[in-house]
Amino acid sequence: MINKIPVIIDCDPGHDDAIALLLAFASERLDVKGVTIVGGNQTLEKTLNNALKVLSFADINVPVAKGADKPLMRELIIAPEVHGDSGLDGPCLPESHLKPCDLSAVEFIAKIVKESEEKITLIPTGALTNIAQFLICYPELKNKIERISLMGGACFGGNWTPAAEFNILVDPEAADIVFKSGIPITMSGLDVTHRALIYKEDIERIRAIGGKVAVMVAELLDFFSKFHGQMGFEGSPLHDPCAVAWVIDPTILKTKKLHVDIETKGEHTLGCTVVDYYDVLKKEKNVEVAFDIDRERFVDMLVQAMNNYK
Ligand code: RIB
Ligand code: CA
Repeated sequence: MINKIPVIIDCDPGHDDAIALLLAFASERLDVKGVTIVGGNQTLEKTLNNALKVLSFADINVPVAKGADKPLMRELIIAPEVHGDSGLDGPCLPESHLKPCDLSAVEFIAKIVKESEEKITLIPTGALTNIAQFLICYPELKNKIERISLMGGACFGGNWTPAAEFNILVDPEAADIVFKSGIPITMSGLDVTHRALIYKEDIERIRAIGGKVAVMVAELLDFFSKFHGQMGFEGSPLHDPCAVAWVIDPTILKTKKLHVDIETKGEHTLGCTVVDYYDVLKKEKNVEVAFDIDRERFVDMLVQAMNNYK
């Protein structure tokens, strides 16, 4: 009997966040202790509602805790052009029968970490505000975090500015706290997620599974493909599931251990994950940066996961 890995997913659903959640809950390798929500792709009210609707639709009953509605020190930026006005445009999902728990995201993470005999792996797929606030409020619990497998950043380029990826740019100060925490980090940035492309034939493979969840995921991908098609992508970069897939099976990504700093001041570079690719600074290599993915296995993992749902 393989021991399950205890994880908490912190997200801003968002199409790819929703698929990351469904992938995680379908995996026999993961014990998802809870889901915490942050503002990002849309306002916190909408990302929370989207998370509750997806989990309810998939008959997943798990604690969901409401987190930060804005970054530590900045105003929230959102991404309706990517995810629509609801933050989860495309499928028509019924209202959720789930309600968020009474604890805040930070209090929920602290509770789970305190009560767990094993160290907890955190999987953030949005801005890092909740994670940073947890580290600020509960520094004594840092040593009970096994690893942070996050979607965010990039070694080369950005998708919201030429230098910054959206999740890091939303809250650079939070990202700086997390990347300086000393907790082992696996960073699934754009270098790998732009290779985690889902093509039309992959979407049809998922739709053909036929269950209501698989069909809903295909509809999410139909919508998600529109924006990326307009951006000139052949397929849709499935960002957030990369962070989950690595925890399920680390061999699915190719990573390089590198030093990473976060730019919190640059006029043109704010939110950049400054990856010391050539080790010029000779600083501590604090991050496993992902650069490639076994795409075929990734898609098979997604298809297999969707087969687990009704
Ligand atoms: O840049 C991609 C990231 O920003 C993904 O996590 C997506 O969901 C958005 O949050
Ligand atoms: Ca996200």
